[in-house]
Amino acid sequence: MTVPTIALNNQTTIPQLGFGVFQVPPEETAEVTGQALEVGYRHIDTAQMYGNEAGVGEALRSSGLPREDLYVTSKLNNGFHEPDDARRSFDETLTRLGLDRIDLFLIHWPLPTRYGGDFVSTWRALAEFVEDGRATSIGVSNFQPDHLDRIVDETGVVPAVNQIEVHPYFGNEAVRAASAKLGIAVEAWSPIAQGAVLDDEVITGIAAAHGRTPSQVTLRWHVQRGDIVFPKTTHVERMRENFEIFDFSLTADEMAAITALDRGEDGRRGPNPDTMDWIPE
Ligand SMILES: NC(=O)c1ccc[n+]([C@@H]2O[C@H](COP(=O)([O-])OP(=O)(O)OC[C@H]3O[C@@H](n4cnc5c(N)ncnc54)[C@H](OP(=O)(O)O)[C@@H]3O)[C@@H](O)[C@H]2O)c1
Repeated sequence: MTVPTIALNNQTTIPQLGFGVFQVPPEETAEVTGQALEVGYRHIDTAQMYGNEAGVGEALRSSGLPREDLYVTSKLNNGFHEPDDARRSFDETLTRLGLDRIDLFLIHWPLPTRYGGDFVSTWRALAEFVEDGRATSIGVSNFQPDHLDRIVDETGVVPAVNQIEVHPYFGNEAVRAASAKLGIAVEAWSPIAQGAVLDDEVITGIAAAHGRTPSQVTLRWHVQRGDIVFPKTTHVERMRENFEIFDFSLTADEMAAITALDRGEDGRRGPNPDTMDWIPE
């Protein structure tokens, strides 16, 4: 199975399908990530707040895969938005991953009610990592349209991606559209709504018609919309299942039926980025 790539706005590309490690216990992360690499995943999505970057690094090293075949993303801890903290923690991320360069580094949450509402100086700090060659691309996560406009207007540096909650129950269309308008690729987090969409009758019906699973149909819906996805699982058979989504396609009617499952704000599973203010102890 060949995973397509998506062109980013800085002349680089990213594999459209990756493997997410949110809630993979740190002590299991090396083994689980190693299994994902064995299945064929080459794009890994971690974060400082997941506490498992070291396990990802261990798996990358033990895989023996060439660095240029791998795509690694991490994200800034909510507690480290002050530029000096961002710089120090970025150094630590590279050390934990065992890399001298990361493919993509994101501001995890905008935290508009923290740090005096200043996520712009944090964004400028991330831009330094591109300038010094230690990050190939930088981006944001959970940024609303006004947050995107603000960093672009004030710094002129356009994020490569915006990683946001998107799944059939939460289409997040306004943020997808605002990102697209600025040339920012969308990464859809919790792409199968942490399992919540898998027994939906519309999705199980389409899955049965294709002889596929509900997870495959849902992931296929995302990739046909052009978004980047990285489902998480600790089960090898599910890693394989979620990887096999490039040898069938959904019709326009099937796509529309899944899109119509959108429940607006009621479909959100994670926090609202406008009010999310959690900082780890
Ligand atoms: N930027 C952000 O703020 C943010 C927030 C959330 C997530 N993310 C990223 O997005 C990634 C994915 O999101 P997520 O982990 O929240 O949710 P998800 O990928 O939508 O769903 C993961 C859940 O679905 C189950 N699952 C996976 N494949 C399955 C299959 N084929 N059949 C049945 N169940 C299946 C998993 O169970 P098992 O593990 O037990 O198999 C797990 O409970 C994360 O790992 C992380 O990288 C980012």
